Amino acid sequence: MEIIILPDAAEVGRVAGAKIASIVAGRPQAVIGLATGSSPQGIYAELARRVQAGSLSFAEARGFALDEYVGIPADHPESYANVIAREVAAPLGFDPSRVRVPDGRAADLAAAAKEYDRAIAEAGGIDVQILGIGSNGHIGFNEPTSSFASRTRIKTLAPKTRQDNARFFDSPDQVPTHCMTQGLGTILEARELVLVAQGAGKADAVAAAVEGPLSAFVPGSALQLHEHATVIVDEAAASGL
Ligand code: GLP
Repeated sequence: MEIIILPDAAEVGRVAGAKIASIVAGRPQAVIGLATGSSPQGIYAELARRVQAGSLSFAEARGFALDEYVGIPADHPESYANVIAREVAAPLGFDPSRVRVPDGRAADLAAAAKEYDRAIAEAGGIDVQILGIGSNGHIGFNEPTSSFASRTRIKTLAPKTRQDNARFFDSPDQVPTHCMTQGLGTILEARELVLVAQGAGKADAVAAAVEGPLSAFVPGSALQLHEHATVIVDEAAASGL
């Protein structure tokens, strides 16, 4: 695992964005694993800047989001389908038909989850997966105790995650209780992983994921099993290392 510690959050976005950009520049049809949340916003800003400057294009790329809430109304601005469309696909110029998000509103959720893994495989697998990390060590929505072998499936959100994400909803009780997330096994199949974290609130999770023992209680520690994982953090998020 490569660990890159940078002075601040802005630098994390620039360096991680440059890394993703170099992959897409060499492979315009790259399959990108997309993360939501505040952590990767600097990456998307850096990529959007390059797209606007005409030096990078996602027109031929494909995207697969990590996760989605289950049962969230289709028109809810915080559904990850809407977040990805608004904050990633549009500013980066993806063809919307080439971007997928797990279907948290499917009548048969288990079948939809299986189909999602199949679609990733049919696209040739993910070239680079962008990741944030939850303050409890989750990646995607793989909460503590997730199996390292898990595939895309339904999970119950941990109380801590619902509390962390309550800021995106009108009231805490509106945060969905369940989600559909790529499994840790699915994530580990990506050819390259890039995890970003900023701020002191992530310091414990980063230290446990990077330097702690492999543990289902710290889903982010699964990155230690990957041959091409890069963790890019600011000094505050690195303060527990
Ligand atoms: C969210 C997402 C994760 C994200 C994490 C951290 O709930 N499902 O993909 O990495 O929690 O979020 P943030 O980057 O906003 O701190």
